[in-house]
Amino acid sequence: MAEVVAEIAALRKLLVPRRIAGKTIGLVPTMGALHAGHRRLLEVARAETDIVVATIFVNPTQFNRAEDLDRYPRTLDQDLDVCRASGVDLVFAPIPTEMYPEEPRTWVDVPALSEHLCGPGRPGHFRGVATVVMKLFQIVQPDRAYFGEKDAQQLAIIRRMVKDLDVPVTVVPVATVREPDGLAMSSRNRHLTPEERQRASVLSQALFAARDLVLQGERSAEVIRNSVAPLFDGVQLEYFSIVDPDALTPVERIDGPVLIAGAIWLGSTRLIDNITVAP
Ligand code: PAF
Repeated sequence: MAEVVAEIAALRKLLVPRRIAGKTIGLVPTMGALHAGHRRLLEVARAETDIVVATIFVNPTQFNRAEDLDRYPRTLDQDLDVCRASGVDLVFAPIPTEMYPEEPRTWVDVPALSEHLCGPGRPGHFRGVATVVMKLFQIVQPDRAYFGEKDAQQLAIIRRMVKDLDVPVTVVPVATVREPDGLAMSSRNRHLTPEERQRASVLSQALFAARDLVLQGERSAEVIRNSVAPLFDGVQLEYFSIVDPDALTPVERIDGPVLIAGAIWLGSTRLIDNITVAP
């Protein structure tokens, strides 16, 4: 039975005896609205660690548009059911003033990895993510922390933050869970109208097509981008990029593993997805 805690001090108090008893702690940070992708994170954490802590916090500092923050689905009761069914031990679900009692004066920023892909379209977003994840690492002090590969840029930034700041945690990437038509699971999918939902798989189709071209021997990123471009007809494409998987810098000639990533808008819903491929 998962215990639900809203205060940092209470969570720390519960974790101390478990840590002293030598239990390993797995952290699954989320913003709630849990779906099959989150369930997979919880499942992997459950299999690999003794105490699973899930956090549910819609982090205001990572939203650069107030309407996105207001619109973000809040489904705590259903989320707690998912946590219980997934064998979570502790759920940390703070209110915003618990996490940010005052305007923060200290931020964690990884600018070099934030300037490509989603960065230009979401100014300040990754600074908010890195800061809240660092706070959660300080609060929970997990041995292992689980993040979905769907948010590849977030994952790269957190890995780099952990490396640069010597945070004693192992970051565990977990594969993207997809709908049968390829659409990556996301809390935002619930905003799609039936028509938008039908179109939404265009992004994963383009990623798979691009991957196949690399596997068939195509080495030019430009040729690949041009080949998949017609798939996006009638869809608002924010970017479709082929980048180095660690530095996230654009690659023109594919000579090693690359991350192919894209973002599209369907109405007022923004979807992202990515795939990694090695020639
Ligand atoms: O991926 C998310 O849901 C969020 O960005 C995270 C990591 C929970 C930080 O708020």
